[in-house]
Amino acid sequence: MNKIPCEIVPLLLDWFAQNKRDLPWRHTKDPYPIWLSEIMLQQTRVEAVKPYYKRFLEVCPSVEALASLPEEQLYKLWEGLGYYSRARNLQKAAKTILSDFGGVFPSDHKSLQKLPGIGDYTAGAIASIAFGERVPAVDGNVLRVVARLTASDKDIALPETKAAFRELLLPLIPEQAGDFNQSLIELGATVCLPNGEPKCESCPLASLCRARMEGNVLELPKRSKKPPRKIEDRTVLLIEDGGRTALSKRPDKGLLAGLYELPNTKGHLDEAALLTFIRSLGFEPLRWSRLEDAKHIFTHVEWHMIAYAVRISPEFDERAGSDRCFLVDNEILHRDYAIPSAFSAYIKYL
Ligand code: ADE
Repeated sequence: MNKIPCEIVPLLLDWFAQNKRDLPWRHTKDPYPIWLSEIMLQQTRVEAVKPYYKRFLEVCPSVEALASLPEEQLYKLWEGLGYYSRARNLQKAAKTILSDFGGVFPSDHKSLQKLPGIGDYTAGAIASIAFGERVPAVDGNVLRVVARLTASDKDIALPETKAAFRELLLPLIPEQAGDFNQSLIELGATVCLPNGEPKCESCPLASLCRARMEGNVLELPKRSKKPPRKIEDRTVLLIEDGGRTALSKRPDKGLLAGLYELPNTKGHLDEAALLTFIRSLGFEPLRWSRLEDAKHIFTHVEWHMIAYAVRISPEFDERAGSDRCFLVDNEILHRDYAIPSAFSAYIKYL
């Protein structure tokens, strides 16, 4: 594999100093907010993260506050960001810092990886940005930059490619490790763009880029296709009595674990099956109507949803329904419950 020329280091540091975006998590060296930002940024765009990051720190300014936050409040703070396991792991890790690390944030790449939700990339980002440890932080942006810089046709979806790129970067990491890692991320996010849109004319590394010399920037990086997502038909119910809506709680394991949702079931139910399902939840419908279809894409599965609005009479008390299905006042639902965005096509009716 082609080496990475060490000339990139001063070029990137200078470029970053002059071109970095002014982002809220770049005004601190405190590992807690840096960690939070890295977790939020894992599957979410910078612009979408900003308001969540601010609000999260207002409610939860410290590891202690995060560790003791009630779960429902944690989910509410995360509502709309998706991938709720990130929030669950964040809190688990906060509890681990208190129980196993005496409340002191672990400060090196190796011990950071003992925390739930922190893998090689996130540990590298926190260790370098907050503590100045000279370790790489190879995310998707960095994979793309290194693949082009070295004209590597290795499959960036493979862990061994990530490990190989990490080894190429390791000897280059300067004392300003955090700035260097962020400069690579920033270059990937703002200049060395994917999907045929690299802005090579404004790249500080253009004269060193092997893909550019070989004329194959647009063909790199190579990434093998992910296996297709499983498609699951589901029927979703908006069961209402005029002021309250039925919610159920998902099981503690698996997709959307422990979150509240609109009652739903596998398959596209016809009206006879629909009636049986509503009764199995403990409700007797007055009338129902079909709502629009909706689709939601998770990491490994796609929900293809049909939905019914179901009117029940207001005589049910809030414990009506089965163990896991109950009625909630609509105002309280909006205020206190985090409903996964998979249901947003239907929640908008409330
Ligand atoms: N994506 C991941 N980490 C980031 C960071 N520190 N700044 C901007 N984008 C990022």
